Parts: sequence; C-alpha cells; structure tokens
Amino acid sequence: DKGNHRHFMEKEIYEQPEVIAHALGHYVNFIENRVVPISDAIDFGKVPSLAISACGTAYLAGLIGKYWFERYARLPVEIDVASEFRYREIPLSPQSAALFISQSGETADTLASLRYCKEHGLKIGAVVNARESTIARESDAVFPILAGPEIGVASTKAFTCQLAVLAALAVGAGKARGTISGEEEQPLVKSLAEMPRIMGQVLNSIQPKIESLSRELSKCHDVLYLGRGTSFPLAMEGALKLKEISYIHAEGYAAGELKHGPIALIDENMPVIVIAPHDRFFDKTVSNMQEVAARGGRIILITDEKGAAASKLDTMHTIVLPAVDEIIAPMIFSLPLQLLAYHTAVFMGTDVDQPRNLAKSVTVE
Ligand code: G6P
Repeated sequence: DKGNHRHFMEKEIYEQPEVIAHALGHYVNFIENRVVPISDAIDFGKVPSLAISACGTAYLAGLIGKYWFERYARLPVEIDVASEFRYREIPLSPQSAALFISQSGETADTLASLRYCKEHGLKIGAVVNARESTIARESDAVFPILAGPEIGVASTKAFTCQLAVLAALAVGAGKARGTISGEEEQPLVKSLAEMPRIMGQVLNSIQPKIESLSRELSKCHDVLYLGRGTSFPLAMEGALKLKEISYIHAEGYAAGELKHGPIALIDENMPVIVIAPHDRFFDKTVSNMQEVAARGGRIILITDEKGAAASKLDTMHTIVLPAVDEIIAPMIFSLPLQLLAYHTAVFMGTDVDQPRNLAKSVTVE
C-alpha cells in the first residue's frame, strides 16, 4: 500500500535510502569497504569489451554505467537502446560480455537483444529487479537490484538501485582488471556506503524548495535539461521523468551540444535545468549556463555546496545538494529530478502512478 504517501511514486522516491542500502549490501563489504565478488560466470578481468542494452529509464542507467566501466575499469562499452541494438547487426566478440538492464525482466526488445548476444557467444549478465523473470532466466549471471516491487509506472527507486549495482560492478571490474588498486577501491566503496544516509538527508531537506519550483514548472510548455559527463544521461532521465508524468515537453541534452541546436529555443519562456555538481566538468557547464543567461534564458541550477559557491551567475533558482564523490553524484542528483517531476505532475493533476499511454512492462515490440 501507499502508506502515508499520496502516490506510489512518492512512496518509492522516499524508499530509496533504505532499498539502496539493501541492494548495496549484496555487492559491498561495508566493514572492509570493498566490493564482494559476485559471479564466476562473467570474468570482468578478462573480457575485451562490454555491450549494454536496455529500454527507457533502464537504458539511461546503462548509459551512466558506460561512463563508469570506461573510466574505472578501462573497459570499452557498446551501448544502445534495445529496439536499435537488436537490429543493428553489431559485430560482437564472443569473448565479450553483455549486460541487460531491466526492472521487469520482461521487456521484449531487451530480451531480443539478449538473445542476439547469446547467439554470438557472449556471456550474458542481467541487472534486474524481477529475479524470476525471462531475462534473468536466460542469463549466465544475475545481478539483482533488490529494489522491491515498483508500482509507479515512472521508474524511480529501480533507476537508482540499477545505478548503485552498476557502480559496484564497475568498481569490481576495475579491481579485476587492475585499473583500480586496493587503495583506490576503499574510498569509492566508502562513498557508496555513505550514499543512503546522504539520500535521506537530501530527501528530508529539499521538498519545500522543489514544491515552489514545481508550481512554476507546471505553467511551462517546454523544459530543457543540460549536463556533462554522467550528468548528461541524468539530464535525459530528468527530462524523461517530467514528460512521462506531467506531459510537459522536455529534452535532455549534453551541455556541450547546446550551441549545435537547442540554443535556438532559449527564451524567457523555457526554463533550463542545469545539472552541475562541482566536478571536473563544472567550469565548462558554467560557460554553457552563461550562454543561456546571455539569451534571456531562465536557469534552474542543481549543484552542490562547492558549485553554489563557485558559480556567480544569476539563476532563477538554485538547488544545493551536499558535495559528494563523483561516483555517487548521479544517484544523489536523481532525487531533485524525481521530486521536480513528481510535484509538477501533482500540480497539474495528472495520474501520476498511471500516466496516459504508458505501461509498466512492455512485452510487445
Ligand atoms: C517502460 C516503463 C519504463 C521502463 C521501460 C523499461 O517504458 O514505463 O519505466 O524504464 O519500460 O522497462 P524495464 O522493465 O525493462 O526496465
């Protein structure tokens, strides 16, 4: 049931600290701050490359995973939405492994991509919530996300649990490949371990700010989300969440692509949500914000304490989160994006848990 919440989606947003702690407990030794070896079926130390495929929100989790596998494990990742992946006739090495990410474990295109990789001899890993699903059954290794049942059609806790699992797998892969030393592993895992507490803190503090902002967003027709690095897929996820449940048109763009098209749309009527933790991309993202400001765009900056201190720009609103390690920033920064979409939809009076035309599980092509 919904407990004290108005919608399942709200309940699932607030459950995240608890379910992520539970999920991480499966992949991480919190006492030694190390990842635990999970599966013998896929040898991440030996595979020359990784393929990842999924649909919707799970695909965007995979895109963030790509950044991690490439950065921390130096493992090249081929990724596409499953509806394209299955038909692209991608040349794949049988020595490689493929990961399929799916909350339901039943999505038709994801399953077809899995079977394509299987036919080509790759080892198959499933990052799934439903452990009894077809995708889990047809895989060599199952990496459960342990999010518990997700009822809201718009995915929230499954997304952040997928991210937590992918982060732990990428660190584990880095260790197996010798690209992360034992010394480098500990602070990364310590950050993962601290994540549930920080998520709780964020969820307890940002609601009033988000509500007033959502009231303004609910009057808009278009919203642009920008980010760099892992904040780019996160920008797409923020936009997807908003369009799914509020029906407001939203796009997520790589901030560096702004000048190649979307800048033409900037005016005082289109809010631009900039996701900019104070990471190695921060200064670049700030220069993109300046381009938006110079054209009269209204900026909503989602940053951390360091970013808020460093940015001198006049923004319409700034949401300030705690400064965290880069590896957990996508999960922490997901929270304001989810809440913004949720409260905007509530203001608009849409059916938050069952948005029109969408299904929780898409078992047809
Ligand atoms: C549908 C849902 C999305 C989900 C996508 C993939 O479109 O509405 O929330 O991200 O399917 O589903 P899966 O179960 O494979 O994660």
